[in-house]
Amino acid sequence: MAAIKPEQNLDDALTLIQKGAYEEGERLLGEIIQDDASGNEVRLAALGHRGYMRMGLGRFAEALADYEEVCRLQPDDSASRSIKARLLADNGNARDAIIEAAEVLRSNPKDRMAMATIRKAQGMLGLDKYVEEGEGGRRALDIPEVPRNRVIQALEEDPNSSFPTSIHPELGRLIYTIVRAIKPTLVVETGSFIGYSSLCILQALEDNDAGHLHCFDLFCEVSDEPGAITNYTSPILGRRKTLGELARGHIEEAGLSHRVTMHAGDSSTKIREYFQQNPAKVQLAFIDGDHTIEGALKDWFAVEKLLEDDGLVILHDTIAEVCGWRGPRYLLQELGEKAATQYQWVNFPTFDKLGLAVIQKRQPIPSPRFKPSFFELLADQMFVMGFWSGSRELRNQIMKRLRS
Ligand SMILES: C[S@@+](CC[C@H](N)C(=O)[O-])C[C@H]1O[C@@H](n2cnc3c(N)ncnc32)[C@H](O)[C@@H]1O
Repeated sequence: MAAIKPEQNLDDALTLIQKGAYEEGERLLGEIIQDDASGNEVRLAALGHRGYMRMGLGRFAEALADYEEVCRLQPDDSASRSIKARLLADNGNARDAIIEAAEVLRSNPKDRMAMATIRKAQGMLGLDKYVEEGEGGRRALDIPEVPRNRVIQALEEDPNSSFPTSIHPELGRLIYTIVRAIKPTLVVETGSFIGYSSLCILQALEDNDAGHLHCFDLFCEVSDEPGAITNYTSPILGRRKTLGELARGHIEEAGLSHRVTMHAGDSSTKIREYFQQNPAKVQLAFIDGDHTIEGALKDWFAVEKLLEDDGLVILHDTIAEVCGWRGPRYLLQELGEKAATQYQWVNFPTFDKLGLAVIQKRQPIPSPRFKPSFFELLADQMFVMGFWSGSRELRNQIMKRLRS
């Protein structure tokens, strides 16, 4: 007698399940899963159907085991990961459910099941687990997306802070979060000063477990003149001769040197020189060097050539009226008028009032692969952070926007 094909068995099992003969259907699916002759695709389908049926019957632990196997065999299958996230919540593991659902939203920001899972799991956790009531009022606990590094902390807490020449810590967090969200392989920074923003980027790359940063700065000598911007004493290193020694020293002390290459000299010249010899695509550039119109445009044209489709450029000091520099805003105006079909951008009115813009290179249409745009990523990041930080108002705003 000819052996029955696994595909036929799969059809039979599904028919049985549809008729309500769950035990019989489950037994057939089990045979397909165990049978070495079943191809990968049939086995995966059988696992998925058995898991889904078990989920429907409320047998969440067994269903989760099936979906863990499906996701192990097919890690890029975001629909199965979404079901796995839901099953994690059904099994009482709210924290992992949120993490898994957030990962699904990263690749598919419109996945409704992942959104519902976050909503459900967050309800299970209870906001009190993330908020501590103390003498000073409410304090958020265990908030993700914060760079944890003693050098970053020391620079931020230094009474002789390098801000406003360095970006404000609030923006350090934002850049850190963006790097964590988009997971770039290669990042370029123009204007590193004593290395504060470099550290925020580097810590995010380290937490991503991937990526390299190229820092470009004149790295001029430290000045002794009272009040001079370059008259800087590090809370960690004390006095050093040049900004380069300070930036390098901070990065070394932070244990992040393996992720950086420092280039001293005029940024646009050095970027061209380096990448002509070492061609590569860049997913993120942070432009914070020469803020004159000429300087900002030169940095832009140097990095533009390197930018990957869908890549991002972050500009600092975009509110000319406050920071006193016209270059970054002029660059945004140029892009708005002359390159609107190639770029989209948003200019944030930041906490420090100096302004920060994020520009994204539009990807060719139709896109060869689905990749969320920065703006979608930011929405899901805010969505998730809204839940984590317990801001009901923010969550409601985002939900309203997502529904519309
Ligand atoms: C605002 S600071 C950068 C702050 C740094 N991004 C941070 O947040 O910690 C500007 C830096 O740009 C550098 N710079 C200015 N003109 C430059 C040029 N043409 N090429 C390279 N670096 C330049 C300066 O040396 C200075 O360190």
